[in-house]
Amino acid sequence: MDFNIKTWLECLDCDRKYDVDELRYSCDCGGTLDVKRDLDSVDGKALKELWESRWGMKRGVLSSGVWRYKELILDLPEDQIVTRQEGNTRLYDAGLAGKYAGLKNFLLKHEGENPTGSFKDRGMTCGATAAKMYNASVVACASTGNTSASMASYAAVSGMKSVIFIPEGKIAYGKLAQALAFNGKTLQIEGNFDDAMTLVQEVCKELNIYLLNSINPFRIEGQKAIGFEILQQLDWEVPDWFIIPGGNLGNNSALSKGLQELYQLGIINKIPRIAVIQASGANPLYTMWKEHTEFKAVKDPDTIATAIKIGNPVSWKKSMRGLEWSNGVVEEVSEQEIMDAKAMVDAAGIGAEPASCCSVAGAKKLVDAGIIDPDAKVVGILTGNILKDPDAVIGYHQDTLGKMGIKGTYANKPVVIKATIAAVKAALEV
Ligand code: F0G
Repeated sequence: MDFNIKTWLECLDCDRKYDVDELRYSCDCGGTLDVKRDLDSVDGKALKELWESRWGMKRGVLSSGVWRYKELILDLPEDQIVTRQEGNTRLYDAGLAGKYAGLKNFLLKHEGENPTGSFKDRGMTCGATAAKMYNASVVACASTGNTSASMASYAAVSGMKSVIFIPEGKIAYGKLAQALAFNGKTLQIEGNFDDAMTLVQEVCKELNIYLLNSINPFRIEGQKAIGFEILQQLDWEVPDWFIIPGGNLGNNSALSKGLQELYQLGIINKIPRIAVIQASGANPLYTMWKEHTEFKAVKDPDTIATAIKIGNPVSWKKSMRGLEWSNGVVEEVSEQEIMDAKAMVDAAGIGAEPASCCSVAGAKKLVDAGIIDPDAKVVGILTGNILKDPDAVIGYHQDTLGKMGIKGTYANKPVVIKATIAAVKAALEV
């Protein structure tokens, strides 16, 4: 069945509409753009059935956990789609991390199981496909690491050049390694992520390069598939809460946009609440939400969760829109809370990078505060793979993060022993 849903770009600020064929990331008024669809005449039940019929496909474009939902992502012929069969990530029982958070029904969606080890691949498959649709040959992004690793990979598989702007000395080694390995032209700039983000927008305009940050509305479209896939894994039964980390704020905007579309189509009939969790050293959304103030960027953001070390997130307006729709909340978590929650996610046998573990740290805080009921059905999103940032793991377990004010509360220190049975027995206390 062909749904052919009418689609256009629309400004968030002034509602001006543009044709999808027109290459642009922002409105003439300067506002951010959204992909909009006419869903009124769409048969939601038939669409859901189509998606169900694709579940478990073994090969090909539609076996991707993003393109399975292509009618609500970007409806192009399959031979025009750039894919690494991303998505299809697992939904784990949180185990130890659930006990730690005080939740009885806590699932963790592990987006670190995507091809390049983070959720970014879902947005990037769609962004790279859009780049091809516009005949781009060079793509660029500013990144705290994961976006660049993902972009470099998708550019490589589709024959495009990639240019990466990263903050000097502030990105985790696993991510830098991927950017270099996938042959991205990597420019470490003097300054932080926010400086890199400003620069890359100017560069793309000046040099006619296709911008693949989440300001690009097609990135958001691809990332919506995280929510679609979770719901399909749950047989379309809507949890009470989604908990998700917030940095540049694209991912939570995508989650709420996708859920909103499913709700409009009658595919789901309950609105879940969304909790966005920021690191307290990089918390502009939290401050705005908590104090009901105007948006104000954080000048020198800082956190061990380098993925979300962002003071001036580009998608804050979209994020606020989603929070309002879902009766959501924003919470902040300290460095210690992030790393202790990470120790629990890791010890549960699941493992994730620091920023991801804001979901678990935030869950605990919101349960402790009585905002989330311990019996509630909760899905936390783990955004990146444990191996992205081995330094953070080793630092915590060797308890050497004191200079950052972080204690190895649950440290599992390596033990140095002599190569004798007696020494082993002593170490194992047997
Ligand atoms: N978790 C991880 C592992 C991330 O890499 C990011 C963002 C986030 C959470 C936050 O998501 O920005 O959509 O709110 N990383 C970007 C990057 C900024 O460049 O890789 P967000």
